Amino acid sequence: MTEPKAYSSLKQEVELSGRYRLLLPEEEIRRRIREMAGEISRDYAGRCPVFIGVLNGSFIFLADLIRELSIDCEVDFFKISSYGDAMQSSGKVKLKKDIDCHLEGRDVIVVEDIVDSGLSVRYLDERVRAMRPKSLKFASLLVKWDNAQPNRKIDYVGFAIPKEFVVGYGLDYMQKLRNLKGIYVMQERTEEGSE
Ligand code: PRP
Repeated sequence: MTEPKAYSSLKQEVELSGRYRLLLPEEEIRRRIREMAGEISRDYAGRCPVFIGVLNGSFIFLADLIRELSIDCEVDFFKISSYGDAMQSSGKVKLKKDIDCHLEGRDVIVVEDIVDSGLSVRYLDERVRAMRPKSLKFASLLVKWDNAQPNRKIDYVGFAIPKEFVVGYGLDYMQKLRNLKGIYVMQERTEEGSE
Protein backbone atom coordinates (compact mmCIF):
# COMPACT_ATOMS: atom_id res chain seq x y z
CA MET A 1 0.00 0.00 0.00
CA THR A 2 1.32 3.47 -0.86
CA GLU A 3 2.06 5.71 2.13
CA PRO A 4 0.04 8.97 2.15
CA LYS A 5 2.16 12.02 1.21
CA ALA A 6 3.22 13.69 4.45
CA TYR A 7 3.95 17.14 3.00
CA SER A 8 1.78 19.27 0.79
CA SER A 9 4.56 21.50 -0.54
CA LEU A 10 8.26 21.25 -1.27
CA LYS A 11 8.80 24.08 1.23
CA GLN A 12 7.09 22.08 3.99
CA GLU A 13 9.03 18.99 3.01
CA VAL A 14 12.35 20.81 3.41
CA GLU A 15 11.32 22.50 6.65
CA LEU A 16 9.78 19.44 8.26
CA SER A 17 11.55 16.33 7.00
CA GLY A 18 14.94 15.38 8.39
CA ARG A 19 16.24 14.75 4.89
CA TYR A 20 17.43 18.32 4.39
CA ARG A 21 20.16 19.66 6.66
CA LEU A 22 19.61 23.11 8.13
CA LEU A 23 22.92 24.85 7.50
CA LEU A 24 22.14 28.40 8.62
CA PRO A 25 19.12 29.19 10.78
CA GLU A 26 17.22 32.43 10.35
CA GLU A 27 18.64 33.98 13.56
CA GLU A 28 22.25 33.30 12.57
CA ILE A 29 21.71 34.87 9.14
CA ARG A 30 20.09 37.93 10.74
CA ARG A 31 22.92 38.34 13.26
CA ARG A 32 25.61 38.09 10.57
CA ILE A 33 23.80 40.55 8.28
CA ARG A 34 23.69 43.08 11.12
CA GLU A 35 27.47 42.73 11.50
CA MET A 36 28.04 43.13 7.76
CA ALA A 37 25.79 46.21 7.64
CA GLY A 38 27.70 47.70 10.57
CA GLU A 39 31.00 47.19 8.77
CA ILE A 40 29.67 48.68 5.52
CA SER A 41 28.16 51.67 7.38
CA ARG A 42 31.54 52.38 8.98
CA ASP A 43 33.45 51.96 5.69
CA TYR A 44 31.09 54.28 3.80
CA ALA A 45 30.36 56.83 6.55
CA GLY A 46 29.27 60.14 5.01
CA ARG A 47 28.88 58.58 1.53
CA CYS A 48 25.90 57.22 -0.40
CA PRO A 49 26.83 54.00 -2.20
CA VAL A 50 24.74 52.37 -4.92
CA PHE A 51 23.90 48.78 -4.03
CA ILE A 52 23.38 46.62 -7.10
CA GLY A 53 21.54 43.43 -6.34
CA VAL A 54 22.03 40.47 -8.65
CA LEU A 55 18.64 38.96 -9.38
CA ASN A 56 17.11 36.71 -8.62
CA GLY A 57 18.97 35.16 -5.72
CA SER A 58 20.10 38.28 -3.85
CA PHE A 59 16.74 40.00 -3.38
CA ILE A 60 16.13 38.88 0.20
CA PHE A 61 19.72 39.41 1.35
CA LEU A 62 19.84 42.87 -0.23
CA ALA A 63 16.51 43.87 1.34
CA ASP A 64 17.65 42.79 4.80
CA LEU A 65 21.18 44.22 4.43
CA ILE A 66 20.21 47.74 3.44
CA ARG A 67 17.61 47.99 6.21
CA GLU A 68 20.40 47.45 8.75
CA LEU A 69 22.57 50.27 7.32
CA SER A 70 22.95 53.57 9.15
CA ILE A 71 23.96 55.44 5.96
CA ASP A 72 22.02 56.55 2.87
CA CYS A 73 22.11 54.31 -0.16
CA GLU A 74 20.59 53.79 -3.58
CA VAL A 75 19.53 50.49 -5.10
CA ASP A 76 19.45 49.03 -8.60
CA PHE A 77 19.48 45.53 -10.06
CA PHE A 78 21.18 43.35 -12.63
CA LYS A 79 19.51 40.13 -13.61
CA ILE A 80 21.86 37.46 -14.82
CA SER A 81 21.67 33.73 -15.13
CA SER A 82 24.31 31.04 -15.26
CA TYR A 83 22.46 28.13 -13.65
CA GLY A 84 18.91 28.34 -15.03
CA ASP A 85 17.11 25.40 -13.41
CA ALA A 86 20.24 23.24 -13.28
CA MET A 87 22.22 22.39 -10.16
CA GLN A 88 25.52 23.15 -11.88
CA SER A 89 26.63 26.29 -13.67
CA SER A 90 26.20 26.32 -17.45
CA GLY A 91 29.62 28.00 -17.62
CA LYS A 92 28.13 31.03 -19.38
CA VAL A 93 26.64 34.17 -17.88
CA LYS A 94 23.63 35.73 -19.62
CA LEU A 95 22.59 39.31 -18.88
CA LYS A 96 18.80 39.39 -18.63
CA LYS A 97 18.28 42.88 -17.18
CA ASP A 98 20.70 45.80 -17.09
CA ILE A 99 20.83 48.56 -14.46
CA ASP A 100 19.19 51.93 -15.11
CA CYS A 101 21.39 54.22 -12.99
CA HIS A 102 24.68 55.86 -14.00
CA LEU A 103 27.64 54.53 -12.07
CA GLU A 104 30.36 56.90 -13.27
CA GLY A 105 32.02 58.49 -10.22
CA ARG A 106 29.81 56.53 -7.78
CA ASP A 107 30.67 54.19 -4.92
CA VAL A 108 29.25 50.84 -5.99
CA ILE A 109 28.64 47.66 -4.01
CA VAL A 110 27.50 44.62 -6.00
CA VAL A 111 25.43 42.25 -3.85
CA GLU A 112 25.35 38.51 -4.55
CA ASP A 113 23.60 35.75 -2.63
CA ILE A 114 26.31 33.19 -3.39
CA VAL A 115 29.70 32.96 -5.09
CA ASP A 116 30.27 29.44 -6.40
CA SER A 117 32.56 29.15 -9.44
CA GLY A 118 33.19 32.90 -9.43
CA LEU A 119 32.05 33.21 -13.04
CA SER A 120 29.23 35.66 -12.29
CA VAL A 121 31.50 37.87 -10.19
CA ARG A 122 34.12 38.02 -12.92
CA TYR A 123 31.47 39.00 -15.48
CA LEU A 124 29.95 41.68 -13.22
CA ASP A 125 33.34 43.06 -12.20
CA GLU A 126 34.24 43.66 -15.86
CA ARG A 127 30.83 45.10 -16.69
CA VAL A 128 30.71 47.55 -13.77
CA ARG A 129 34.37 48.61 -14.15
CA ALA A 130 33.63 49.64 -17.73
CA MET A 131 31.08 52.10 -16.27
CA ARG A 132 33.93 53.90 -14.43
CA PRO A 133 32.68 53.94 -10.83
CA LYS A 134 34.70 55.79 -8.21
CA SER A 135 34.98 52.58 -6.21
CA LEU A 136 33.70 49.03 -6.57
CA LYS A 137 33.24 46.37 -3.89
CA PHE A 138 31.45 43.04 -3.77
CA ALA A 139 29.33 41.61 -0.96
CA SER A 140 28.07 38.03 -0.89
CA LEU A 141 26.06 36.30 1.79
CA LEU A 142 27.66 32.94 0.92
CA VAL A 143 30.98 31.95 -0.60
CA LYS A 144 31.79 28.31 -1.25
CA TRP A 145 34.96 27.23 0.54
CA ASP A 146 37.08 26.11 -2.35
CA ASN A 147 36.27 29.33 -4.19
CA ALA A 148 37.08 31.59 -1.28
CA GLN A 149 39.54 33.39 -3.54
CA PRO A 150 37.77 33.70 -6.89
CA ASN A 151 39.09 35.88 -9.70
CA ARG A 152 38.19 38.89 -7.65
CA LYS A 153 38.18 39.60 -3.93
CA ILE A 154 34.79 39.47 -2.21
CA ASP A 155 35.03 42.40 0.19
CA TYR A 156 32.13 41.47 2.49
CA VAL A 157 31.45 37.76 3.04
CA GLY A 158 28.63 36.49 5.22
CA PHE A 159 29.53 32.82 5.51
CA ALA A 160 32.03 30.46 3.88
CA ILE A 161 30.12 27.23 3.23
CA PRO A 162 30.95 23.72 1.97
CA LYS A 163 30.60 22.92 -1.71
CA GLU A 164 27.06 21.57 -1.47
CA PHE A 165 23.78 22.55 -3.10
CA VAL A 166 22.01 25.03 -0.86
CA VAL A 167 18.49 26.46 -0.96
CA GLY A 168 16.48 29.05 0.91
CA TYR A 169 16.77 32.72 1.79
CA GLY A 170 16.69 33.67 -1.89
CA LEU A 171 18.47 30.60 -3.27
CA ASP A 172 16.35 28.28 -5.39
CA TYR A 173 15.80 24.72 -6.46
CA MET A 174 14.02 24.80 -9.84
CA GLN A 175 12.96 28.40 -9.01
CA LYS A 176 11.27 27.23 -5.78
CA LEU A 177 12.34 27.38 -2.12
CA ARG A 178 13.61 30.98 -2.28
CA ASN A 179 11.00 31.67 0.43
CA LEU A 180 12.58 29.48 3.11
CA LYS A 181 13.71 31.56 6.09
CA GLY A 182 16.84 29.50 6.71
CA ILE A 183 19.45 28.01 4.36
CA TYR A 184 19.41 24.25 3.84
CA VAL A 185 21.68 21.71 2.18
CA MET A 186 19.63 19.84 -0.39
CA GLN A 187 20.46 16.49 -1.97
CA GLU A 188 19.91 16.06 -5.67
CA ARG A 189 16.42 14.66 -6.33
CA THR A 190 16.54 12.00 -9.02
CA GLU A 191 12.77 11.69 -9.47
CA GLU A 192 9.60 12.85 -7.78
CA GLY A 193 9.40 11.43 -4.29
CA SER A 194 12.95 10.03 -4.29
CA GLU A 195 15.55 10.87 -1.67
C1 PRP B 1 23.38 32.02 -8.88
C2 PRP B 1 23.71 33.08 -7.84
C3 PRP B 1 24.89 33.81 -8.40
C4 PRP B 1 25.57 32.76 -9.25
C5 PRP B 1 26.81 32.26 -8.55
O1 PRP B 1 22.55 32.58 -9.85
O2 PRP B 1 22.62 33.93 -7.60
O3 PRP B 1 24.49 34.91 -9.20
O4 PRP B 1 24.63 31.68 -9.42
O5 PRP B 1 27.42 31.23 -9.25
P1 PRP B 1 28.88 31.35 -9.90
O6 PRP B 1 29.81 31.89 -8.87
O7 PRP B 1 29.20 29.90 -10.24
O8 PRP B 1 28.77 32.21 -11.12
P2 PRP B 1 21.59 31.71 -10.82
O9 PRP B 1 22.19 31.64 -12.19
O10 PRP B 1 21.29 30.39 -10.15
O11 PRP B 1 20.30 32.60 -10.92
P3 PRP B 1 19.30 33.05 -9.74
O12 PRP B 1 20.04 34.08 -8.92
O13 PRP B 1 18.15 33.61 -10.47
O14 PRP B 1 18.95 31.84 -8.92
